Amino acid sequence: MNHFISLKYFSANQIQDLINLAMRIKAAPLDSKSSLAGKSVGLIFEKSSLRTKTAFYLGALQLGAYAVYYSPDEVKLGQRESISDVARTLSGYLDAVVLRTYSHSSILEFAQASSVPVINGLSDFLHPSQALADILTIQELKENIKKVKVVYIGDGNNVCNSLIYAFSILGGKLTLAIPQDYLPSVDVLNEAKDYAKISGSEIEIADSIEEAASGADVLYTDVWISMGNEAELRERKKAFKNYQINGKILQLAKEDVIVMHCLPAHRGEEITDSVIESKNSVVFKQAQNRLYTAKAILSYILKEWAK
Ligand code: CP
Ligand code: NVA
Repeated sequence: MNHFISLKYFSANQIQDLINLAMRIKAAPLDSKSSLAGKSVGLIFEKSSLRTKTAFYLGALQLGAYAVYYSPDEVKLGQRESISDVARTLSGYLDAVVLRTYSHSSILEFAQASSVPVINGLSDFLHPSQALADILTIQELKENIKKVKVVYIGDGNNVCNSLIYAFSILGGKLTLAIPQDYLPSVDVLNEAKDYAKISGSEIEIADSIEEAASGADVLYTDVWISMGNEAELRERKKAFKNYQINGKILQLAKEDVIVMHCLPAHRGEEITDSVIESKNSVVFKQAQNRLYTAKAILSYILKEWAK
């Protein structure tokens, strides 16, 4: 089954194929406009979304497919109906399902029962479609991701985990500045070490945010409090208070550093207003690239692999 659940199930060549496909779609959007004609894509979201919903929903329509969106109140996976019953029912209607869930295990359970491809539109553990757009953005603006210092500052969360998989599979240098209690899981870091043996990537944990930011080509951050972590608001704000991309941190990076954020941003927390509005910020280019990578994922999964 051609699921898109984690980048770890993809080789470097396959990830690069997806990026190249996204670039082709971006350069000539009309060339692919009927490529998924007659296909149907469902989007089941347990959490809010602006970019991911728009990218996959509109992306499906722009490729000529139908799209059905289920808001967080509708399906109630595992509450109104078992995950397996939903997956088997929708397999009879749809050609692919994009899922955004609280628990990553819900996506795995859905995929187990589904006879159509499942795309991870974010879980508590991973956000692979985001990482794909991020790699595209870095490639566009810095050309070779293997030749730049990319620094992730903040929470070792779903976005961070997917970036670790992307960099460790593709190669490149990713430096993490993350408080000790919020580091990515040991499993993810160990897997990354294995992938690095093949790709030559360097995934490093810096001793301080200043050390990490020094000489950076890319500074990346995400919220301190992800969807689902709201109950930990007070302790997280305390733990992350020194993990902010601000003017001082920006100064330590290269002059032409690009600043990235998957959005939504909490200005004044993980990033200051002046940095996200600065000439170095590429957050809206990055957001726009979600559309082309979503279309590439849909095309790849529904068409290319079916050939
Ligand atoms: N970056 C991202 O996934 O945004 P949304 O939560 O708005 O989809
Ligand atoms: N880490 C964030 C990403 C949102 C796109 C969250 O999970 O809420």
